[in-house]
Amino acid sequence: MPVPVVALVSGGGTNLQALLDALRDSPAARVTRVVLSRPDAGALDRARRAGVATTVLVDPADAAELAAALHDVDTGLVVLAGYVKRIPPAVVARFRLRMINIHPALLPAFGGPGMYGRRVHEHVLASGTPVSGATVHYVDEEYDHGPIIAQWPVPVRPGDTADALAARVLEVEHRLLPLVVLELARRGVPRVPVRLFADGPAFVVDHQPVVRLGDDQG
Ligand code: GRF
Repeated sequence: MPVPVVALVSGGGTNLQALLDALRDSPAARVTRVVLSRPDAGALDRARRAGVATTVLVDPADAAELAAALHDVDTGLVVLAGYVKRIPPAVVARFRLRMINIHPALLPAFGGPGMYGRRVHEHVLASGTPVSGATVHYVDEEYDHGPIIAQWPVPVRPGDTADALAARVLEVEHRLLPLVVLELARRGVPRVPVRLFADGPAFVVDHQPVVRLGDDQG
């Protein structure tokens, strides 16, 4: 049986779409439910089109309501795919090392409360750093703070706008998130946080990354 994956989403859901597409025929993991923090999220249509069950939360801060929405992942993974609400601590505790988030920068830089959407990329550009990227990490009690699982760097180009950089990072997010979800699903619930590194340089051929995720290389 594929590992059940519940996705939590607040927005348009392009990361959700990447997950739905990558997991549709996978024997390792399957998106079984999409939980939304708002009824007008574009992700709702994506979930419906894919024939996946949906739950729209009335109050995302209500731990009991969220826990009930996650009931079908008692043995699976919870993936925050563009989810901007705080996860109540009781729910974080229940899904420790089974709940992950994707963030559009190289954490621990450019994360924390209020750092989402365009603002992240504006801060990256203002800092002058030549590298940004995507991070997948475990969710803990603080925003964008739990142990990092995997990161994928992206160059910041001269003359970049926040939108241009966001688009470049988003493309990488769509590749990184399914890779990590599938790898975690294959491994089962770990006793300690898993850290994955690209096995060699991430060459891209015909828009497909030639990269495999492996264990800590020390
Ligand atoms: C992504 O950049 C994600 O990392 C961030 O919000 C954005 C969501 O985009 N948390 P989408 O809804 O997946 O299209």
